[in-house]
Amino acid sequence: MSDLKFWTNEKVPLEMHKVRIVQKLNLLPVEKRQECITGAGNNTFLLNNCDVFLDMLTDSGVNAMSDRQQAAMHVADDSYAGSATFTRLKDKITEIFGKEYFLPAHQGRAAENILSVALVKEGDVVPMNYHFTTVKAHITQNGGIVEEVFSDDGLLTVSDLPFKGNVDIDKLQGVIKKYGPEKIPFVRIEAGTNLIGGQPISLQNMRDVKKVCDEYGLMYILDASLLQDNLYFIKKREEECKDMSIREIVKNISELFDVIYFSARKLGFARGGGICTGSEEIYLKLRELVPLYEGFLTYGGMSVREMEAIAVGLDETMDEEVINQGPQFIEYMCNELMKHGVPVVTPPGGLGCHLDATRFLSHIPQEQYPSGALASAAYIAGGIRGMERGTMSEQRNPDGSERLAEMELLRLAMPRRVFTLSQVKYAIDRIVWLYENRELVEGLVFTDEPKILRFFVGRLAPVSDWQEKLVAKFRKDFGDSL
Ligand code: F0G
Repeated sequence: MSDLKFWTNEKVPLEMHKVRIVQKLNLLPVEKRQECITGAGNNTFLLNNCDVFLDMLTDSGVNAMSDRQQAAMHVADDSYAGSATFTRLKDKITEIFGKEYFLPAHQGRAAENILSVALVKEGDVVPMNYHFTTVKAHITQNGGIVEEVFSDDGLLTVSDLPFKGNVDIDKLQGVIKKYGPEKIPFVRIEAGTNLIGGQPISLQNMRDVKKVCDEYGLMYILDASLLQDNLYFIKKREEECKDMSIREIVKNISELFDVIYFSARKLGFARGGGICTGSEEIYLKLRELVPLYEGFLTYGGMSVREMEAIAVGLDETMDEEVINQGPQFIEYMCNELMKHGVPVVTPPGGLGCHLDATRFLSHIPQEQYPSGALASAAYIAGGIRGMERGTMSEQRNPDGSERLAEMELLRLAMPRRVFTLSQVKYAIDRIVWLYENRELVEGLVFTDEPKILRFFVGRLAPVSDWQEKLVAKFRKDFGDSL
């Protein structure tokens, strides 16, 4: 797929699969869309899926499965203990990651809970390239703090740097010297750095971090939830890896890490999660928490059908023509938006197309959640559900003041193999329209604000009647079109 050329020279991300099961979609009229987003407290998490046309909230648990995955689900071995399904999954993990021990967990954050409870103590510090909401919440819940050691370029929304998820080695050294290695239970690397726009980290940088970990005797942990996009970028952008197979790249990566955990809602095109390690000592330390929080050691809260799907999905992830679909669709969407001046995070990363709300809605102060306002406006403009990834997704400081996010993004996720190119073109069209009418969009204010992970269920209201104005402009410009 990646090297396929069109005679007309048009750059088209051609799908290397065909669609054999479909789901009907609803596109509500714009007035109804405004009603729905108001009913959802301007929080796209609270919309009902039947009111959404393009669900670009996340790539989590909503990727399309293959025929082979669905077939495998029919041969799942339903038993509480010692299921053959678990053995198949464990063997696949060992084959791909080269780690002997595997602990199942019901999703990624469950793995983070187990790792944090087992390894993080009051006053500990966990350095990482960039935090993800759930891992940070678990580490702080256990009395630790997160120190981000990403390279400064990571926060540039306009860039052509190939690996913006890289760790700044000097910053890492600085954190270790500041707190002392005894305060650091592990160093965490997140592949495909989620909150800064799905930006990858290079194999070389992972190696450089490993050297530092070895120097101080620190445990080294990989969050592989977004590894598949990262693998694609390593293969495309890292000279040393151009001729390596995806399996070889994974082998090179996994031998660096003491522990690898993942959300199988992302990696493996299914739903679930787990932790693997080559160390018996670490395995035994983590093992006792699995029956406590997740379920018995051979299912860990997952259905056996999902475990079969993960095993096949992981195998398919080793195929470049499978994993390039997401990044290539994202690149197409970003490039088309940029042609119309719409500010997006560049270079295009994995996971989704990230609109830069700081530039898109530069007139909205961060305290009024520009990314949240953009999420609300994108739903009104096109029935498109994105996810706020900005100040709303942060937790307030202990004194109650806002912790302003370093980036204000609206993530339009590209669940893998789910949307067709014409649907992506529709999304581009409505976002371009919104950009041309951006001065109509104003901010939001919380009306109901939970203390932990407030973005999930918090409710907000617009600061003025800007949404009515946006609807009226839509009608004026689009007539009676949906
Ligand atoms: N790590 C990363 C990098 C993630 O992106 C996620 C989830 C998790 C861990 C937690 O995994 O959801 O299975 O518990 N990201 C989802 C998203 C929620 O929409 O980006 P989980």
